[in-house]
Amino acid sequence: MNAIEVNHLSKSYADFEVLRDISFTIGVGESIAIIGSNGAGKSTLLKCLTRITEPSQGSINIFGDPILKFRTGALRRMRSSIGVVFQKHNLVPRLSVLTNVIHGDIGRLHNVSKFPLAGIRNWGQISASNRTRKKAMEALEMVSLSHLALQRADTLSGGQSQRVAIARALMQEPNMILADEPVASLDPVAANEVMSLFYDLCKNKNITLIFTSHNVEHALEYGNKVLAIKNGRLSLFKDSNSIEIKTLQAEYD
Ligand SMILES: Nc1ncnc2c1ncn2[C@@H]1O[C@H](COP(=O)(O)OP(=O)(O)O)[C@@H](O)[C@H]1O
Ligand SMILES: [Mg+2]
Repeated sequence: MNAIEVNHLSKSYADFEVLRDISFTIGVGESIAIIGSNGAGKSTLLKCLTRITEPSQGSINIFGDPILKFRTGALRRMRSSIGVVFQKHNLVPRLSVLTNVIHGDIGRLHNVSKFPLAGIRNWGQISASNRTRKKAMEALEMVSLSHLALQRADTLSGGQSQRVAIARALMQEPNMILADEPVASLDPVAANEVMSLFYDLCKNKNITLIFTSHNVEHALEYGNKVLAIKNGRLSLFKDSNSIEIKTLQAEYD
């Protein structure tokens, strides 16, 4: 079974076609870079994969399931197994690092609508269960930040904040992580550290990683395959060792 199978996917906003007839397959545990210039449709493609944006046409299978046919309940369960990391880490600044990570567990509570208090309980680190706290500390250890657990989130550097955002995503025990330009706001050294940590973590846990980037070097280094979008079409989908991909550097940088 593949992690993702996309067939003839198109997405239009009004009469503007952002994605045109895109098809590709991603294996379980692979790391895939999506590159393309600003406005190429990278974020739109990621959003289609969790139906944050509804595709106009085509089919998407995630771990074999035809997700475009899912109704609310199945869609919520599918989303809770996919971690999402954005360019902006969106940590709550005045709360501790640990509390911010604990918030990642909320998405796993499938029955939040039936048991609203179960969700709300996790909004305070003090009232979170010992099990949840322990899990959050383990997630922080995975990103080597357990020593900062009780520090306020707004005291962290950009790179540390993004590592906390990764720990928060790990709380969902995801089998896939979608990361939209996860290191675009970081300086080059921090960006490499975060991407390398991200890559290793996903490989160790067999998590399928899909990240967008406009940095071709990152795409080649941390993507086993590179998927390039141009004029709404999939212009290349190749192993990152491919010569063709390497010669694209100038075009996509
Ligand atoms: N909600 C929306 N409504 C209308 N147009 C949109 C919307 N979201 C994105 N677009 C347009 O779709 C194109 C692709 O956007 P996006 O996927 O964000 O590109 P990228 O992430 O590659 O920079 C852009 O031209 C953008 O303006
Ligand atoms: Mg984008």
